[in-house]
Formats: sequence, C-alpha cells, structure tokens
Amino acid sequence: MTKIKELRGCKVNAGLILSGGKGERLASDIPKQYIEIGGKLIINYALKAFENCAGIDIICVVVAAEYRSLLHGECEYVFAEPGETRQRSIWNGLEALRAHAPEYVIIHDAARPNVTAGDVTGVIGAAENYDGATPALAVTDTVYLSVDGKTITKTLHRDALFAGQTPECYDFEKYRAAHVRFADRLDTFRGSSEIAVAAGMRIALAKGRPGNFKITADTDLERFRAIVEGGSI
Ligand code: CTP
Ligand code: MG
Repeated sequence: MTKIKELRGCKVNAGLILSGGKGERLASDIPKQYIEIGGKLIINYALKAFENCAGIDIICVVVAAEYRSLLHGECEYVFAEPGETRQRSIWNGLEALRAHAPEYVIIHDAARPNVTAGDVTGVIGAAENYDGATPALAVTDTVYLSVDGKTITKTLHRDALFAGQTPECYDFEKYRAAHVRFADRLDTFRGSSEIAVAAGMRIALAKGRPGNFKITADTDLERFRAIVEGGSI
C-alpha cells in the first residue's frame, strides 16, 4: 500500500470498507464490527487484509466519527459518513472516493473478518472483461420460496441460485453512474450488485469461499472466535 498523497496521476484501485451498520441481529451493546476478538477489533481484520493487498491503493472506510480512532491501520484512510441503509453507505463512500478517480472500487463488509488479500486480488481479476465481479457460493441445500413464511409456495431450482459474498469489484465510474441514475430509489436495491445489473452492467460471478462468512448472528461471532482462538488466524 502506498500513502494516498503519493498516488496523484496514477490509476488506482480503491477499497471501500462498510462499517456503518448497527448490528441489530446480534445481541451486543456496540455494533458487531467493533467487538474485540483475539486482542483485535473485528473491523481491523478486514482492514489488514486490504492493506496487505498489492491490488489496493487507497482505502475508504464508511464509519461514524465516534469510532474512527478505533481503526488500527497503517495507512491514512479516506472517511465517509454512514448512510441510513447499506446502499446509502456505499453511495457516501463513492462520493468520498470521487476525487481520487479510482479505476475499480472493491467493496467489503467490515463484518467479514476472514477475508484475505487473495480474495481481493481474485475478485479484481474476475472483473476483467466485465463491468464488475462478485464472489458467490453455489447453494447446496434445497431452496424453498415461502410467501407467508409458514408454508412452501414452491421449490426453487438451486442450479441457478448462488449466495453472494464480499469483496465485490466494480468499474468505479459505471457503478457511480448507476447510483446517480437511481438516486431516487437507492433503498429499493439489495446487495451491492442489484443496482449495477439494473443499470446494465455485466457482473461476473467469481468463486466465493465458505470461510469468508459474514458475522450476522451470535453463532457467527462464536464461530469466528473459535477460529481465532484455535490459532487459524
Ligand atoms: N452497513 C453499512 N451501513 C448501513 C448498513 C450496513 O455500512 N447502513 C455495513 C455493516 O456495517 C456491515 C455490512 O454493511 O459491515 C453488512 O451489513 P449487515 O451484516 O446487515 O450489518 P448490519 O446492518 O450492521 O447488521 P443488522 O442488519 O443485523 O442490523
Ligand atoms: Mg443490515
């Protein structure tokens, strides 16, 4: 990683770490990404992976001002304010990065601490010849659609179903233009890629990694704690 001020005039790839959520599905007084595991806050695991990645030149962190002093990276970050929804947090990050004119933006959840520098370079490589790429896992269980949440409406064909992960890579200018185009309905989009596809961008499916899970509920937190305490990280 180079310091951002040394990069003027070069093509850069920007990491965008999303840390603007409140973690309401997990029982904790503080947002899950600021919980300490193995002597380190959860968000700092992902920041380290991005800083160690040769394909990343600058990093923007979407994080409320009160938490900024908790970030223990070695480079200077671009900061952006959290939005009401994840998509709005992304938009704020894109606006903060605009002055640096990145070629690609690589978006990652702070709540996914198992990400590696290899995951980041992998998704950048998968975006080649496309407008972006997103890592995904084939769905292995049978998948039901249930409209009322109680009975099966129908069974879906899982061969065509994939579960999305992060980090996700997008052509910065095209992805930003998608947000400008759909500015009045940003909150209707799910995941990072729906807005890109709606704008006509071609997004490749990259190979996801089961170990790169997101901490959503208490069981995920305990799974990550077991990995760290078992010495695998
Ligand atoms: N995120 C964000 N801004 C938001 C909402 C989410 O930056 N307004 C970030 C979260 O901090 C997290 C990532 O997006 O790193 C994935 O979101 P999720 O797992 O849903 O986290 P939370 O929204 O914090 O959790 P919950 O939905 O349980 O409240
Ligand atoms: Mg959420």
